[in-house]
Amino acid sequence: MEFATIDEQDLEDKKILVRVDINSPIDPKTSEILDDTRIRSHIPTIKSLSIGKTILIAHQSRPGLEDFTTLEAHARRLQEISRLKVRYVDDIFGSAARKAISELENGEVLMLENVRLCSEEVSDTVIKKSPKEQSKTLMVRKLSSYVDFYINDAFAVSHRNQPSIVAFPYVLPSCAGKLMEKEVKTLSRILNNRENPVFIFGGAKVKDSLKVMERLLDNGKVEKILTAGLVATVFLAAKGYTIGSKNKKILEEKGLLELVDEARKLLEKYGEKIEIPVDLALLKNGARFEAPMDKLPDLKIMDIGIETIARYSTIIKKAKIAVLNGPSGMFEVSDFALGTEELVKAVAKSRCFSVLGGGHLSAVAKKLKLINDISYISTGGKATLSFLAGEKLPGIEALRRRK
Ligand code: 3PG
Repeated sequence: MEFATIDEQDLEDKKILVRVDINSPIDPKTSEILDDTRIRSHIPTIKSLSIGKTILIAHQSRPGLEDFTTLEAHARRLQEISRLKVRYVDDIFGSAARKAISELENGEVLMLENVRLCSEEVSDTVIKKSPKEQSKTLMVRKLSSYVDFYINDAFAVSHRNQPSIVAFPYVLPSCAGKLMEKEVKTLSRILNNRENPVFIFGGAKVKDSLKVMERLLDNGKVEKILTAGLVATVFLAAKGYTIGSKNKKILEEKGLLELVDEARKLLEKYGEKIEIPVDLALLKNGARFEAPMDKLPDLKIMDIGIETIARYSTIIKKAKIAVLNGPSGMFEVSDFALGTEELVKAVAKSRCFSVLGGGHLSAVAKKLKLINDISYISTGGKATLSFLAGEKLPGIEALRRRK
């Protein structure tokens, strides 16, 4: 491995700060954690550290979004499923955190508060800085003085240049956690494979998706790109389709209209590699209403249509490797789960090496009892795609440099 791993370390009696990614789908009304796959995925790392004191640092969502919450419920869930004693402190680097860390015994686990409540973690000014400069933030200076060692197990957020991901390896001895090791080993095998994957881009993180697509296409590391979700809406607008005032407003509100030009440039350069929907499912009188792209009424887009599902499924069937990322529509609403569920089924049924990325899709595969038919479920969403596009992820680079 190009980075140090847990097995090579002597961590007995040490206070170990572990960056995990337990960012989970949350019901905005009840704050209930809807899928705990990511929480479970860190248990092997946490259990392997029982000779020392484990301090977990993590985020949930981003400031301004509905599912931006504290990590108290995450700590409780981790305690239930790991059967370890997990304490929680609603502080990141203040006196309450320092006290809670100093009181830990070997084998105990402490979860700190959502790190994105600290403005330095999300500040545009800070995240543009180099990891070395980020190590001078107050959060990193304070927290690193309370602990002895840093582990990055958060593969899924290692594409972010944020202090909790990139800065600690500058000031503390550091290594990768077991999940990080597993993700990098498995995804490297795909990256170095002769066959290029078919990528299915859904979800709402359009800006990140466009960046990764460009990289994939420029590097020739892709067989085909299938678009769904809000990513598809932006491409449909870029292709010149009338998406209707409601959908235009949604793109505008989410700051996605400005990405239409970028999508158009990709279509001009790589049109034959990018598939866009030929029909959509819309919301009409509270129910699913299918319409082809050339006769689209002014209704809210909720899912890809049946013809698109069939076309995409045929492409997936022929793929050697298929990587599915992000839902195809509003899959939480039963009428509009069809696209997401059918694409998960297509990937599971195909004889290709299949990869699901991001928490939402693993929840869908679990619901459909298809988990065992998927070759690899990555905890990463955009991190996985960026890695497969050949990008150097800042979190992994920081560990490499430390080694
Ligand atoms: C994810 O869910 O992809 C990771 O936790 C990163 O989240 P972010 O896109 O809000 O940085």
